[in-house]
Amino acid sequence: MSHTLESPLLETLRAEYVALRERGLSLDLTRGKPSAAQLDLSNALLDLDLGADHRDAAGTDLRNYGGGDGLLELRRIFAELLGIPVAQLLAGNNASLQMMHDVVVHALLHGVPGGEPWVGRDAVFLCPSPGYDRHFAITQALGIRMVSIPYLADGSLDLPSIERHLADPAVKGMWLVPQYANPTGSSVDETTARALAAMPAAADDFRIFWDNAYAVHHLTDDEPAPLDILGLAAEAGHPDRFFVFASTSKITQAGAGVAFFASSPANIDWYRHHTSVQTIGPDKLNQLRHARFFGDAEGVRAHMRAHRALLAPKFALVERILGERLTGHATWTHPTGGYFVTVYAPARTATRAVELAKSIGVAVTPAGAAYPYDDDPHDSVIRIAPSMPPEADLAQAIEALCVCVLLAEAELGA
Ligand SMILES: Cc1ncc(COP(=O)(O)O)c(C=O)c1O
Repeated sequence: MSHTLESPLLETLRAEYVALRERGLSLDLTRGKPSAAQLDLSNALLDLDLGADHRDAAGTDLRNYGGGDGLLELRRIFAELLGIPVAQLLAGNNASLQMMHDVVVHALLHGVPGGEPWVGRDAVFLCPSPGYDRHFAITQALGIRMVSIPYLADGSLDLPSIERHLADPAVKGMWLVPQYANPTGSSVDETTARALAAMPAAADDFRIFWDNAYAVHHLTDDEPAPLDILGLAAEAGHPDRFFVFASTSKITQAGAGVAFFASSPANIDWYRHHTSVQTIGPDKLNQLRHARFFGDAEGVRAHMRAHRALLAPKFALVERILGERLTGHATWTHPTGGYFVTVYAPARTATRAVELAKSIGVAVTPAGAAYPYDDDPHDSVIRIAPSMPPEADLAQAIEALCVCVLLAEAELGA
């Protein structure tokens, strides 16, 4: 279509887009990393001098090998925060994602308690979507087929669909972020958790990977306690159904925190056994630094309020600009915690909008990444991670992204 025949709206948007390009932006909305100011909140960890005081309360020298379960003092703090009995919570090294990866590998090679190895059985994972791209990367890399379970219009899990899939014994696992999910910000309520715990599954060795990465990452005064998922599972007669993960990656330092694994006593024994083949114990000095830095669970809560003071204004800014520019064109989530805002752009525009943004120096997570095999059936979801850029940059990036969404929509109608 020639330029002169374009609609006035398309012409206006193109002009806005060209003006943005001329600004030579270089902005990044991709990964949900803490900002430098957030990392600074934990700088005392770097300066903390353990000196001669490198023993735990029982007198064990933490510089040495051993202590595979992790430091008891730190496990106690996070047991309280995560609502898990301390005997069922282990502390490891810095990445819960690595724990998730290794648990899937152990399940493939050895089977989980009460089951045969998953390998060679065409194992399937259910993937509530939009979801976390790195979860999907693990299952894809390990040859597990993924089935997308779209969230319902109200943001809740599609329990009837999950139940139907569980009639298939090949369905061995499900990814789930129960609190302030990446990227939708949605949380699982107690009724849903009870339903997941009680649901019949054809595979006795079906496991839900309950990734509670954002358990204490509230953006408002409302600080809900985590669900007692292991208790609910035991009550429902499926004590071994949930593998629970968490970490301090977005509490202290993303690259140098502590990760946690929790589950039933049988699963904990299983995990202990396989981990003991991999390592002679985690970095307990880092765990000790964390325990000393926080003191107790209230110390973590206070620390998370300091994060909130830095993060909440950024989320408010995103909300304001989306409201000003995209009302009537797109919808988006209004998270009360976590790290992400999901924009539902008009169908068939997300890929184009992200591409337009990239060409003017605004990096956005690739369209489709929130779905297994990068397949967003409506080509609509755009994930925004507001944490990293300073507010002025964030405002420019969101403004620019909105122009790209509007332009992609206008092009479609042209
Ligand atoms: C849902 C979720 N799980 C896990 C992680 C990564 O956790 P870790 O740093 O402990 O590997 C992230 C990071 O973005 C995440 O969003």
